[in-house]
Amino acid sequence: MAAITPKLKHEVKDLALAPLGMQRIEWAAREMPVLKQIRDRFEQEKPFAGIRIAACSHVTTETANLAITLKAGGADALLIASNPLSTQDDVAACLVKDHNIPVFAIKGEDNETYNRHVQIALDHHPNIIIDDGSDVVATLVQERKKQLFEIIGTTEETTTGIVRLRAMLSDGVLPFPAMNVNDADTKHFFDNRYGTGQSTLDGIIRATNVLLAGKTIVIVGYGWCGRGIAMRAQGLGANIIVTEIDPIKAIEAVMDSFRVMTMAEAAPLADMFITVTGNKHVIRSEHFDVMKDGAIVCNSGHFDIEIDLRSLKEKATKVKNVRPFTEEYHLPSGKSVVVLGEGRLINLAAAEGHPSAVMDMSFANQALGCEYLVKNKGKLEPGMYSIPREIDEEIARLKLQGMGINIDSLTEEQIEYINSWNVGT
Ligand code: ADE
Repeated sequence: MAAITPKLKHEVKDLALAPLGMQRIEWAAREMPVLKQIRDRFEQEKPFAGIRIAACSHVTTETANLAITLKAGGADALLIASNPLSTQDDVAACLVKDHNIPVFAIKGEDNETYNRHVQIALDHHPNIIIDDGSDVVATLVQERKKQLFEIIGTTEETTTGIVRLRAMLSDGVLPFPAMNVNDADTKHFFDNRYGTGQSTLDGIIRATNVLLAGKTIVIVGYGWCGRGIAMRAQGLGANIIVTEIDPIKAIEAVMDSFRVMTMAEAAPLADMFITVTGNKHVIRSEHFDVMKDGAIVCNSGHFDIEIDLRSLKEKATKVKNVRPFTEEYHLPSGKSVVVLGEGRLINLAAAEGHPSAVMDMSFANQALGCEYLVKNKGKLEPGMYSIPREIDEEIARLKLQGMGINIDSLTEEQIEYINSWNVGT
């Protein structure tokens, strides 16, 4: 049962779901050894004593482990959903009931509720904002200027949020330090590539149960996410077409063995389309018109703007829900287009998001990024900051340790060699 006033400590679907949430959060923790080590240290050192943190993230088992880690470090942490469809209601219930962490998130919440939750996050008067897509930071900067002095900084999880923060920076309106978690190597090499690669196909398969072998799939955008999806879909036997606007990424896709062409050329050829560009209307009216009958269209980018659904709705004669997260749009031509997850990120709408093993590193970056902000409070000018290389490498070392893998280190002779310039052939 939803409890709905900002005065209440939570707004979740049903607290009775907490036992299932607990079981699933603990299962995820088994694959998150790096975050566990950080949590154990935070428990001793309490780096966030007296610090209020508002986190806006997909409310998943992995995010729960991050929230528990922050609380172990002494933070007064509050969590809201970063997407209306991505909340795992059992997880939200468990965080409230068993961990006393206020959560405002219900799977399927409407946009008005989502925006109200952003306001509730700001009502928490955070000192640190953990953002995923930059909605909380953008709202703060536009509507809550009086709170700016309370902010130590923000950490941003995703490419889309980083693009937004960069736009704020170039407009001169980013008023505090922002840690770029996305660009840490231990984040985007793994989360964006292997996480999105697996979880996107997981979402598509759960929603449709279609066989990917033999299908022609268009991957729209060949950033780290696109690379990961293309690689994994090819592994399952799909024929991949890539569309890109960046000539360098386009060459990379060609040399990775994929066909590259424009969306106009690809639209009539494919059985399935997956958007991961971060940009608006990359599939639009003229593309729907020429698609094969029954073509499946979905998005795994952060916002639901990549597919021009409005134009599809306008031309549809009928829209039918054919399975959970699966809607068939009938067109006047007699053909239909199938849209998954209302154009929202399919890996979190129809599946459970990235597996815990990659989120372990992403959220280790979040936890240590927040600690870095606190340790450097007052010393950082407003702007974007990379996660320091030592932190990135330490996360990789801890991950390898958790996987039971040893690696070599340089010998004295090798150290001397790579630091010299006067020894040639
Ligand atoms: N983004 C993608 N997958 C996620 C997950 N499992 N938890 C939180 N954020 C995510």
